[in-house]
Amino acid sequence: MSDKLDQRIQLVASTAFNALVDDWRRRQHDLPSRSEAIRRLVQLGVKHDEEFPMRMITAIIRPHRYEAVREGLLSLGISGVTTTEVRGFGRQRGQTEFYRGAEYDVKEVPKLRIDVAAPSELAESVVALIQEKAGTGKIGDGKIFVSGLMDVVRIRTGERDANALD
Ligand SMILES: Nc1ncnc2c1ncn2[C@@H]1O[C@H](COP(=O)(O)OP(=O)(O)OP(=O)(O)O)[C@@H](O)[C@H]1O
Ligand SMILES: [Mg+2]
Repeated sequence: MSDKLDQRIQLVASTAFNALVDDWRRRQHDLPSRSEAIRRLVQLGVKHDEEFPMRMITAIIRPHRYEAVREGLLSLGISGVTTTEVRGFGRQRGQTEFYRGAEYDVKEVPKLRIDVAAPSELAESVVALIQEKAGTGKIGDGKIFVSGLMDVVRIRTGERDANALD
């Protein structure tokens, strides 16, 4: 990439976006300008995408929402899913969901864990889909964790990366 800064682009941003950028650039030792900060952040983002060409999306959902989530994932073209029956608690520590008002009875609530590996370009669609299909609007709907995934191997063939996913 050429270092010559002779291409002007227009960027319309929100206050929140600018705050995010300013927050980041103030943490840099050389306090780059806002434009320089955006240039660096774009480079970092592209590099990150190259290092993590895929994402592992782990969602903890209500078990009865799984069929809807599964159908949605298939329609997105997801090739595989791992599910695990789990127990856990969130910030209500499990009690409000099953035992409204019963302070003494703090329990771990049964949930379903879904692990989906997907190409990075698909990850946001997967997250949106899970959020839409798993959501009821009530506390305890669950969480979605997204992490960078470096490699995948299909054991039978030895295929790697996205080739091992399709
Ligand atoms: N910080 C966390 N780390 C790991 N697992 C979590 C975390 N928070 C929630 N979970 C898992 O997600 C499940 C559902 O969490 P839950 O939806 O209650 O989260 P929450 O943060 O309390 O949100 P809400 O206020 O909507 O209930 C939990 O039972 C637990 O398995
Ligand atoms: Mg909760």
